[in-house]
Amino acid sequence: MNHKIRSLTSNPGPMQVSDPQEQQNQLHLADDTLMGETIETVECALAPESRIVVHTEPTSLATDRFRLLRMSLNAHWMAGRLKTMLVSSALPGEGKTTTALNLATSLAERGKRTVVLIEADFRQPVFFDRLGLTPWPGLVNALKENRDPFESIRKLDPLGIFALPAGEQAENPIDLLNSPEFTKMLVRLRSSVDWVILDCAPVLPVPDVQTIKSKVDGCLWVMRAGQTPRDLIEEAVQQVGQENIVGMILNDAEALESTYSSYSRYGYGYGYGYGKNKAASK
Ligand SMILES: Nc1ncnc2c1ncn2[C@@H]1O[C@H](COP(=O)(O)OP(=O)(O)OP(=O)(O)O)[C@@H](O)[C@H]1O
Ligand SMILES: [Mg+2]
Repeated sequence: MNHKIRSLTSNPGPMQVSDPQEQQNQLHLADDTLMGETIETVECALAPESRIVVHTEPTSLATDRFRLLRMSLNAHWMAGRLKTMLVSSALPGEGKTTTALNLATSLAERGKRTVVLIEADFRQPVFFDRLGLTPWPGLVNALKENRDPFESIRKLDPLGIFALPAGEQAENPIDLLNSPEFTKMLVRLRSSVDWVILDCAPVLPVPDVQTIKSKVDGCLWVMRAGQTPRDLIEEAVQQVGQENIVGMILNDAEALESTYSSYSRYGYGYGYGYGKNKAASK
């Protein structure tokens, strides 16, 4: 098993999504309360497949790489440019969920920051299985039944993050992702927590990311090293829009320097200019 990842993040751009002072004020010791409500804590029994190396292998190279990624993203965060971020990829199975779980845990910095991880892949929910949790009604149930999605948030012990699992498969994922309730939930979370991370479906097979990309500050792109054909990455990136991509992760990279450099030559990675066009449109 190889957890080597390479994170490529662009330089901070000019977009402002919130007041930097407000961001600073939110640097607090996170506890088990969210927007004044005490959130139930549930204990994870992490499945090996979850591969949350930042928790299980804190001194590994992979964990170091997630720390580096955290530093890059925190630079955007401190400047008030980035707070809600979706994780996606061109194809299924590239490591989106694994990345989202590791990144959220890393961003929480053992309780220093409040991080909410949302399972926004309503097609193949895996959170309960991966985290070894006894299921409860999740986000899909809440959106379908017109209940407050916040009731479905739990704090995960020992990861120290807040999770909002999908709960069950949705028959109409696009309708739910497009619903005013979903947008309202993101707006509420943005105003009250430090980070909101959305684990999404892949871009090419389904239009989910297209549906919600405008509701978040940026997209984190995952590529499975040696597996994703470059033309498909290009097609998917074009669909999402380069200006929406805040960084790229080469997951499962083992001695793939040549693959990595060819991605670089093709302009993926440093050349994205995060926020350039978004800033103009906000
Ligand atoms: N770096 C890695 N090394 C080894 N196995 C990995 C690595 N990253 C992910 N995996 C494994 O690959 C499988 C797919 O990973 P994951 O579920 O994170 O992908 P995904 O992009 O979310 O998939 P989907 O598109 O189905 O949602 C899982 O079994 C996961 O444990
Ligand atoms: Mg997934």
